[in-house]
Amino acid sequence: MLVSAKEMLNKAREGKYAVGQFNINNLEWTKAILLTAQENNSPVILGVSEGAGKYMCGYKTVVGMVNGMLEELNITVPVALHLDHGSFEGAKACIDAGFSSVMFDGSHYAIEENIAKTTELVGICNELGLSLEAEVGSIGGEEDGVVGAGECADPDECKAIADLGVTMLAAGIGNIHGKYPENWAGLSFETLAAVKEKVGDMPLVLHGGTGIPEDMIKKAISLGVAKINVNTECQLSFQEATRKYIEEGKDQQGKGFDPRKLLAPGFEAIKATVKEKMELFGSIGKA
Ligand code: 13P
Repeated sequence: MLVSAKEMLNKAREGKYAVGQFNINNLEWTKAILLTAQENNSPVILGVSEGAGKYMCGYKTVVGMVNGMLEELNITVPVALHLDHGSFEGAKACIDAGFSSVMFDGSHYAIEENIAKTTELVGICNELGLSLEAEVGSIGGEEDGVVGAGECADPDECKAIADLGVTMLAAGIGNIHGKYPENWAGLSFETLAAVKEKVGDMPLVLHGGTGIPEDMIKKAISLGVAKINVNTECQLSFQEATRKYIEEGKDQQGKGFDPRKLLAPGFEAIKATVKEKMELFGSIGKA
């Protein structure tokens, strides 16, 4: 059964580790992440962007697929199904479809409007026992066609949003989605510490987990980050393994054209990446 992310993130914050949010795109992705979590006794969050939700034929299809897998694969570790960077309408649609967690990304609105919309969703999520992630300060890079510059959040605005009663808070600290550019300045730990000071025990979320050096990940966790989002890195692992299979001509040997064979190296590559991240985040054995 899907669970809210609240308990797993509060435990992570107290235990000084982080739970990974891995974004899903299809059946292979979902199966790879769920099996890796189970094999490593780790809690996990499956992230679904609005674009990925559309690609997978809508939120109801996603809920059906994930719930089916939890049962058929005997997944017993805590799993949250979470909308990533949702609009207000998208969050409501995911709640209706059976997601256990949603993110409302109101970071591009003026703070007053972010507060008003987040407040309404806090009420709905609390009533249904779902977790809600809010965002202050837009995360840089490109996601679903939206490009941000990697802002640093205003700690007072973070407090205003945290005080509404959200479950977890994504604050921009110079992080970017996708690959980091050569001249990236790194995470702003000054901002992170200032946000933590204002929001107290609220679990913090680090977006753009792909390509952040290990020492920065560990420092971020020590400063209150309890959820780390990874998307691009699984895509790159899948791409690399699939390219290798084709370049080695394996698709042209025997039944190598069978999609179950063709997609297997990419599937295994995602599993390896997810395990590596779970080790780094410290969530192994914490289910
Ligand atoms: P990356 O694609 O950089 O790993 O970021 C993922 C993310 O933050 C999803 O919200």
